[in-house]
Amino acid sequence: MNIAVLGAQWGDEGKGKIVDLLTPHFSIVARYQGGHNAGHTVYVGGKKFVLRLIPSGILHPDTVCVIGNGVVLDPQALFAEIEQLEQVGIAVGNRIVISNRAHLILPYHRELDVFAEAQRGERKIGTTSRGIGPAYEDKIGRRGIRVGDLGDPAPAVPLADVVRDNVEARNRLLHDSHLDWRAVLDQLLAAWERMRPWVRDVSVFLAEARRSGRRVLFEGAQGTMLDIDHGTYPYVTSSNGTIGGVCTGLGVGPRAIDGVLGVAKAYTTRVGDGPMPTELIDAVGERLRAAGHEFGAVTGRPRRCGWFDAVVVRHAARVNGLDALALTKLDVLDGFDEVRLCTAYRLGSATIQEFPAELGIVSRCEPVYETFPGWKGTAGIRRYDDLPAETRRYVARLEEVTGVPAGIVSTGSDRDDVIVRLDGCVARWLEP
Ligand code: GDP
Ligand code: IMO
Ligand code: MG
Repeated sequence: MNIAVLGAQWGDEGKGKIVDLLTPHFSIVARYQGGHNAGHTVYVGGKKFVLRLIPSGILHPDTVCVIGNGVVLDPQALFAEIEQLEQVGIAVGNRIVISNRAHLILPYHRELDVFAEAQRGERKIGTTSRGIGPAYEDKIGRRGIRVGDLGDPAPAVPLADVVRDNVEARNRLLHDSHLDWRAVLDQLLAAWERMRPWVRDVSVFLAEARRSGRRVLFEGAQGTMLDIDHGTYPYVTSSNGTIGGVCTGLGVGPRAIDGVLGVAKAYTTRVGDGPMPTELIDAVGERLRAAGHEFGAVTGRPRRCGWFDAVVVRHAARVNGLDALALTKLDVLDGFDEVRLCTAYRLGSATIQEFPAELGIVSRCEPVYETFPGWKGTAGIRRYDDLPAETRRYVARLEEVTGVPAGIVSTGSDRDDVIVRLDGCVARWLEP
């Protein structure tokens, strides 16, 4: 069985923790999109690790981690992450495989990201300033530079010419930018020397691995509502974190995916701008932020918080064909007098069941809530039946309104604070 683990909300659902938890059942963990805008946190025995570009499987010493063609790769960010891991005793060595078709993030992409945000003024997206959008723009605009292009012995256009043209075009656009294209080229060639042992045709690598019976876990970054096609456009990232991204971002067919696990928090958060119907700008929102430590893993920005939005997760269920949910951070709701669940939106006299495409409509939608009595003491619980009855009632209703069973329930940040429900499909996926 190969399974995909992806975000069912606006990112930061706890994908890193869930991927780390499932990794022992797989030989390979493969990232298919995004870049170092992602921040996937894993706690092992109280020690914190944040993975950005490298798949969250890296903490398990026998796992091979793949960076697919759908990822945009900043070589300096990659080297920094490898060094950070090695400093805490995680040997990366030859355990990473990088697609020769992955596009590079260059210094001018970071500058362009900051520039474009400043231009947008009030309508800024609130990007992570990592150059993600501009790197994907160059990819789609067919002027990008791919990892494998750095080592092409006989390119149609010499690499130096491509780098010079790209840098000079950006210098003309960004008036106060005076990047030296030769310095950019030298840095790229040095990066190539370091990366070349890891660079492969990832589609071929995965096909061979699967033929020899190795199991693959596909790791998504961001979340469905940040997806370029299915999210709250234009307040999105520039890639497909939804399920189709697995095929395009790694070069595998749809039948390579045996199961799809959507990670969702037991409430909702969002970092950056754009609509969020259940956002709470009040003491309850503040309390969720404080209890859930809701500050961005990459940028440190406070995350916007609100109750669980089943309209959002139903959208994610349909777009991705979710088989199960991994419901995280249930413990953060401990101690609230009451807990709310948004089941639909109200717009005037109409009830809206499916997430609208038009942001003008979304911004006028009011959440329709069901209210549940609160509970205490779920933190660290590891058996479903040990959860308070009120919590189980909330989870059961959440499953009903999203139409997806919660195969995994997470009750703390540590690797072991988790319940894998034995009667669900996740337990079946993990059978040897
Ligand atoms: P990702 O980007 O989807 O991997 O999520 P992030 O790492 O950005 O944010 C999730 C945060 O929630 C991290 O700090 C995790 O350590 C933490 N976390 C994950 N699951 C749980 C849980 O069940 N309970 C609590 N309290 N924290 C959790
Ligand atoms: P993980 O994988 C949450 C958000 C940014 C911004 C928008 C566009 O940790 O869940 P970008 O820099 O990608 O152009 O920013 O997307 N964003 C994320 N929010 N989690 C993430 O990743 C995110 N990656 C990007 O805040 O609103
Ligand atoms: Mg994150």
